[in-house]
Amino acid sequence: MTFEGGEGAGKSTNLDYVRDRLEAAGIPLLLSREPGGTALGEQIRALLLTPENKGMSSDAELLLMFAARAEHLHKVIIPALQRGTWVLCDRFTDATYAYQGGGRGIPSERIAVLEDWVQGGFQPDMTILFDLPIDVGMQRAGQRGELDRFEQEDVSFFEAVRASYRERARQHPRRFRVVDASLELDAVRQQLDEILDELLAGTHVGP
Ligand code: TMP
Repeated sequence: MTFEGGEGAGKSTNLDYVRDRLEAAGIPLLLSREPGGTALGEQIRALLLTPENKGMSSDAELLLMFAARAEHLHKVIIPALQRGTWVLCDRFTDATYAYQGGGRGIPSERIAVLEDWVQGGFQPDMTILFDLPIDVGMQRAGQRGELDRFEQEDVSFFEAVRASYRERARQHPRRFRVVDASLELDAVRQQLDEILDELLAGTHVGP
């Protein structure tokens, strides 16, 4: 399962909530994130997020995302799935289509080449998109103190990211669930509960 959304969408807090509910249902799982999820991936993440690398070329950014993803997929995600462990990942390839595609303007065909190279046909089983207007998200994210290299982008960048995410959800309606993240936490949880009830109803846990 992957968790996607713009800045300040409450993705990480809600990911903890989903983890707790799935664990309570007896599902073995692991939590991870991208870019990151491995020792090398976390080093790549640091390169990608530090404002010191402002001005990094969009191709270098794209390739670093997929370098971290290759490491994560082959060292962590696939082995976990093979053991029967669910993987809950804070961002995955939809973020690349949204940020490097929508935000930076890299054609999605070029991203698809790398996706195919690194992932073959591998896709998340379910993706929850936390969607909210940019001004609300930026206000929430802005309260966190120092901004990373992506958070320093302007409103038009984030509008393009949001539009790309919503377009991805439209293109992949079976995989995506879109949550209205502009609502109060309780109302967001209610939407998540509905998604999880549906998911757990179709999941057999135990022998
Ligand atoms: P986070 O702040 O949600 O942990 O994500 C780190 C940043 O990396 C976030 O601003 C989105 C960005 N990102 C991309 O630009 N492309 C990607 O493929 C991924 C996974 C993240």
